[in-house]
Parts: sequence; structure tokens; C-alpha cells
Amino acid sequence: MIIKSKLSIVISVIVLVLILLQLKAAEVEKGKATYVGSETCKSCHQKYYEGWKKTLHSRMEQQVIKEGPDKTVLGDFSITNPNLTFTLNDVNMLVGSRFKQRYAKSIDGEYYLLPAQWNVQQKEWVQYKPKKDWWAAAAIYPEDWDKRPYSKLCRGCHSTGMDVKTGKPAEQNIACEACHGPGSLHVEQGGKGHIVNPVKLNRENAAMVCFRCHMSGRPPKGDFEKYAWAVGYKPGEDLKQYWVYDKPKGENSYEFWAGGYAAKNRVQGNTFIQSKMYREGMNCFTCHDPHSSRHITSLIKSGDTNSLCLLCHGENSHHAVYKSSISEHTHHKADSAGSRCIECHTPKTGMNAVKWDARDHTFKFISPMETIKAGTPNACNNCHKDQTPEWAQKTVTEWLLK
Ligand code: HEC
Ligand code: HEC
Ligand code: HEC
Ligand code: HEC
Ligand code: HEC
Ligand code: HEC
Ligand code: HEC
Ligand code: HEC
Repeated sequence: MIIKSKLSIVISVIVLVLILLQLKAAEVEKGKATYVGSETCKSCHQKYYEGWKKTLHSRMEQQVIKEGPDKTVLGDFSITNPNLTFTLNDVNMLVGSRFKQRYAKSIDGEYYLLPAQWNVQQKEWVQYKPKKDWWAAAAIYPEDWDKRPYSKLCRGCHSTGMDVKTGKPAEQNIACEACHGPGSLHVEQGGKGHIVNPVKLNRENAAMVCFRCHMSGRPPKGDFEKYAWAVGYKPGEDLKQYWVYDKPKGENSYEFWAGGYAAKNRVQGNTFIQSKMYREGMNCFTCHDPHSSRHITSLIKSGDTNSLCLLCHGENSHHAVYKSSISEHTHHKADSAGSRCIECHTPKTGMNAVKWDARDHTFKFISPMETIKAGTPNACNNCHKDQTPEWAQKTVTEWLLK
């Protein structure tokens, strides 16, 4: 008798716990945040909104404006060029504006990238026909431009809150909620909680907020293995559940030079994690302000005048690289271009629109030996074009042995 009633108490407790757990799950499900859009955030965070509007994140996907002060079309469609096989009338959306601009055509509710690209600095048309991306190299998608859907191959990294069911984003461009997560609950609660502030995450999860788009990789095997972006990931989560990072292979590859340096654009994550600065706890937004600044690429301080790097590496700082004069370290006159930290430690080694216009983010000094061995561009010969890598190697060795 006693045993039986004890058992029934245990059973009722278990049942009760199960019911409570279910209720809790339903509550969480009901309270799931959804995307509200940057215009909603603007009403309470005007300054952040205006700052963000100045960044390229807010302008990745633009509508076609052909003329006037708000003109968005950069390509010159009046040029006759064999690569230019379409007209501006075919174009329904523009992608990019700094290094290169690509042109999307809308067909049955999906966008496709037309087969020519405008290189902004060079002012030239080149063919656009991806061959080396993993999904092209492995023939996962056919070669025809109109068989390569923008929603699957690109858009998760160029917009906010992509929905794979509809193939459409909650908002065009990389907006507030791409980095802060969906904000409906935050707004309902008048700004109390329910929003991700990357600085409050642990360092690795904070870095992942940017890595999700700036870390070359591919999805794990499964339902979304034919997508080229991290389907399902939300800020604050562990990106590694959604994305397999590309790693340098010790030999030259599409993404990296043999030494692990950037051979193309958007590998900032893959290269930065090789730096001591990452291991010491720094992040992309230690140097870049996502809500803009007055410096190029939204750097928090100028890279050109060295003030960014000297914040931490200046003569009296914790990680000083010289005692009284910068020339001790750089072996160039203080006011020489050869004394700019970023020219030697963030040199242009990768291809964005052309070879080489994308900067490396390992921050290591790339030895001219890497040029001799693997063809990697090095900082010295990027400026001293009339000299050989052997000359540069010899000179650096003499400096270091001094
Ligand atoms: C109704 C006004 C309101 C709206 C709309 C609003 N916020 Fe806020 N938000 C606030 C207030 C107030 C705070 C400060 C709360 C505090 O100090 O605890 C805040 C704080 C934040 C923080 C910092 C949170 C932290 O933990 O440090 C972030 C990030 C943020 N908001 C982002 C957003 C984004 C993104 C949106 C749009 C999806 C948005 N907010 C919309 C009022 C608002
Ligand atoms: C590219 C990613 C990114 C985008 C886009 C972005 N933010 Fe942020 N935001 C961050 C990061 C990283 C931080 C923390 C570091 C910092 O303050 O710069 C932050 C911090 C904040 C904070 C908290 C500041 C504080 O003092 O604690 C607010 C509020 C905020 N963002 C609002 C917005 C709003 C509103 C938008 C859109 C108009 C927006 N952010 C767009 C990445 C982003
Ligand atoms: C995994 C994320 C991701 C995917 C997938 C992706 N992009 Fe991007 N894209 C980025 C990032 C991040 C940048 C900026 C990086 C840089 O400058 O190094 C960028 C830059 C660009 C630019 C240059 C923008 C400028 O202003 O110069 C163009 C054009 C572009 N992407 C087109 C595409 C197309 C077309 C696809 C699909 C075939 C695609 N991207 C797929 C993340 C992605
Ligand atoms: C949803 C994808 C996405 C996320 C998340 C993202 N970025 Fe970007 N980022 C891009 C794309 C795409 C571009 C290219 C924009 C263009 O050129 O129009 C870009 C460009 C940039 C640029 C260059 C802008 C310029 O003026 O040249 C910087 C710097 C940058 N991102 C830093 C960050 C940082 C820091 C974070 C994290 C706080 C971050 N990004 C998060 C996709 C993303
Ligand atoms: C120690 C400072 C520092 C850190 C950390 C840093 N960057 Fe940069 N970043 C720079 C500098 C300096 C430039 C070059 C600015 C210029 O062109 O003058 C740059 C340029 C860029 C560009 C423009 C593209 C190019 O090839 O020039 C992008 C995009 C970018 N960074 C994204 C990131 C992302 C994403 C992270 C984190 C993975 C990151 N950065 C971490 C300093 C930093
Ligand atoms: C917020 C502080 C901070 C800023 C800003 C900063 N650094 Fe660093 N840097 C560090 C720390 C911390 C370390 C690691 C400890 C050490 O080696 O002294 C480091 C290490 C380095 C190293 C050693 C090699 C490696 O593996 O990374 C180089 C090179 C370097 N920084 C270059 C730069 C350049 C170039 C800039 C400007 C674009 C810069 N740093 C901006 C803090 C900073
Ligand atoms: C003319 C090229 C050049 C310039 C400009 C330059 N560096 Fe260096 N830097 C080097 C070389 C070469 C090394 C040594 C690399 C090695 O030992 O493999 C180095 C090493 C370093 C290290 C690593 C030191 C260590 O002991 O690990 C840091 C940190 C660093 N530089 C920061 C800076 C900062 C900050 C600036 C700007 C004030 C700067 N560098 C400007 C060429 C340069
Ligand atoms: C951003 C451009 C730039 C970079 C990077 C650079 N230099 Fe220079 N270098 C110059 C300029 C400009 C001069 C002319 C004199 C001056 O301003 O100091 C110069 C002068 C020199 C000189 C003395 C004059 C000569 O031409 O014989 C040597 C030697 C030299 N650099 C070696 C190097 C080495 C080795 C590296 C790589 C570690 C390097 N430089 C990186 C721009 C650069």
C-alpha cells in the first residue's frame, strides 16, 4: 500500500514536471523574436541609425538609379565591350559599389547575376563567371548564369533575416538585426533586454557575429549543403554549428597563399584568427566601428596616420614597438609612406576586383621569402616595384640582424 502510494506520488511529480516543461517550451516559442527592420530601431537609436546609413553595409543591395545626385549605377553602359552582353534595362538590382559592382536580373521571383562586372577603380568591364568557388568548382550548380540563384549563393551575406522558405530577406542590406538579432521583443519591452549586444558575448561568439559573412567556408552536410552561407545562424549563437571554416592548406589555394595570407576578399575572419591580436582577445570591432566613423572602412582611428595602431603600439603603450622614434622599427623616415604600419602589416595580397587590391588580416609581416617561394605579394615590393624580392629579403635580414 505504502509503496504503491509513494510510486503514484513519484509518477504525479514526473507528470507535473513534464507539463511544466512543455508550458515553458510553448512560452519560449510564443515569445520568439521576429525582425522589425532598421526604421523601427531608428525611432529610439537615431544616432546609430544615421551612422550605419553611412557604412557600405547599408548599401550592398541598391535599386537602379540611372541619373541624378542619388545615382547608384556605376558601370558605363555606353561602352562597347565584348564582356558587356546585356543592357541596363535587364538590370533589376545592383550588388556592391566599392571595389566592384555586379548586376542582378529578376526572373520569376528570384535574382540571377548577369555575366559582367564593373571594376570601380579600374573603370572597366570584365567577365563575371565564377569558376573557383566550391559550388562552381564541384559543378554543384551549372555554368549558366541563370541557373545560379542569388538567394542560395549570395543573399544570406548581403541582407538581414533571410528566410529559406520564401527565398527572401526580412530587410535588404546588412542592417541592425543582422548583428543584433531579431528585435521585436526588445521593441515590445520598450528597449529592456531581448537584444544581442556583441560586446557582452564571450569573445568567440562576439567574433562570430562578423565571421558569419567575413569568414570563407561552407555549410556542413545536411539540408542546406547547397547554400553558400550559414543558414539559420543568429547573432549570439555558435557559428560552428552552421558553418565549416576554410583553413589554409599549406600550399597556394583560391582563398589563401601557402603561408595562410589572404589571396582573395572576404577572408578577414580566416586570416585574423591567425594573429596574436585575436588570441589576446581583440575583435573586428576593436578596429572597425560598425556604426561608421570618419575614416576609411569605418576604422575607429586613422590607419593612414598610424593613430589606430599607435593606440596600443605607440612608444609609451603596453605593446610598444619602438622607444623614441618610429624609424627604429620601420627603417624609413618617420614621415615616409614606408613608416605606415598598415602598409607593412596589412598589405594588399588578395584579389577583390583585381590582383591585388584586398588587404591581408593576419597582420604578420609577410617575408619577401614568401614571394620567392610562393609568389605571395610582399609589402616591400608592393612599393619598391623596381627591386627584386631577393633585394628586399636581404635588406630586411640586415635590419633584423642590426
Ligand atoms: C522603444 C525604443 C527602442 C526601440 C524601438 C529599440 N530600442 Fe534598443 N534600446 C532602447 C533602450 C531604452 C535601450 C537601453 C536599455 C538599457 O540601458 O538597459 C536600448 C538598448 C539597446 C542595445 C544595447 C543592449 C545592451 O544589452 O547593451 C542594443 C544593441 C539595441 N538597443 C539595439 C536595438 C535594435 C537593433 C533595435 C531595432 C531592432 C532597437 N534597439 C530598437 C530602446 C529601443
Ligand atoms: C555590422 C554589424 C552591426 C550593425 C549592422 C549594427 N550594429 Fe549596433 N553594434 C554592433 C557591435 C559590434 C556593437 C558593440 C560594439 C560597439 O559599440 O561598437 C554594437 C552596439 C550597439 C548598441 C549599444 C551601444 C552601447 O553603448 O552599448 C546599440 C544601441 C546599437 N549597436 C544599435 C544599432 C542600430 C540601431 C543599428 C542599425 C541602425 C545597428 N546597431 C547596426 C554591430 C552592429
Ligand atoms: C559567406 C558570405 C558571402 C557570400 C556567400 C557572398 N558574399 Fe559577396 N561579399 C561578402 C562580404 C563579407 C563582402 C565584403 C568583403 C571584402 O571586401 O573583403 C562581399 C563583397 C561582395 C562584392 C563587392 C562589394 C563592393 O562594394 O566592392 C560583390 C560585388 C559581391 N560580394 C557579390 C557577391 C555575389 C554575386 C555572391 C554570390 C555568387 C556573393 N557575393 C556571395 C560576403 C559574401
Ligand atoms: C550579413 C553579413 C555581414 C555581417 C554580419 C557583417 N558584414 Fe561586414 N560586410 C558585408 C558585406 C556584404 C560587405 C560589403 C559591402 C559593400 O561593399 O557594399 C561588408 C563590408 C564590410 C567592411 C568594409 C566597408 C568599407 O567601407 O569598405 C567592413 C569594415 C566590415 N564589413 C566590417 C564588419 C564587422 C566589424 C562586422 C561585425 C561587427 C561585420 N562586418 C558584419 C557583410 C557582413
Ligand atoms: C588591428 C585592426 C584591425 C582589425 C582587428 C580588423 N581590421 Fe579590418 N582593416 C583594418 C585596416 C587598417 C584596414 C585597411 C584600411 C585602409 O584601406 O586604409 C582594414 C580593412 C578592412 C576591410 C576592407 C577590405 C580591404 O581589403 O581593404 C574589411 C572588409 C575589413 N577590414 C573587415 C574586417 C573584419 C571582418 C575583421 C575581423 C575578422 C577585421 N577587419 C579586423 C584594421 C583591422
Ligand atoms: C586595442 C589595442 C591594439 C590595436 C589598436 C592594435 N594592436 Fe597590434 N597587438 C595588440 C596586442 C595586445 C598584441 C599581442 C601582444 C603582443 O604581441 O604584444 C598585438 C600584436 C600585434 C602584432 C604581432 C604579430 C601577430 O601575430 O599579430 C602585430 C604585427 C600587430 N599587433 C600590428 C598591429 C597593427 C598593424 C595595428 C594597426 C592596424 C595594430 N596592431 C593595432 C594590440 C593592439
Ligand atoms: C617597413 C615595414 C614595416 C613597417 C612600416 C612597420 N613594421 Fe612592424 N614589423 C616589420 C618587420 C620586418 C617585423 C619583424 C617580423 C619578423 O620578425 O618576422 C615587424 C614586427 C612587428 C611586430 C611584432 C614584434 C614582435 O616582437 O613580435 C609588431 C607588434 C609590429 N611590427 C607592429 C608595427 C606597428 C604598430 C607599426 C607602425 C607603428 C609597424 N609595425 C610598422 C616591418 C614593419
Ligand atoms: C608604403 C610604401 C613602402 C613600403 C611598404 C616600403 N617602402 Fe621602402 N621606401 C619607401 C619610400 C617612399 C622610400 C623613399 C625614402 C623614404 O621616404 O624613406 C623608401 C626607401 C627605402 C630604402 C632606402 C632607399 C632605397 O630605395 O634604397 C630602402 C633600403 C627601403 N625603402 C627598403 C624597404 C624594405 C626592405 C621594405 C619592406 C620591409 C620597404 N622598404 C617597404 C616606401 C616604402
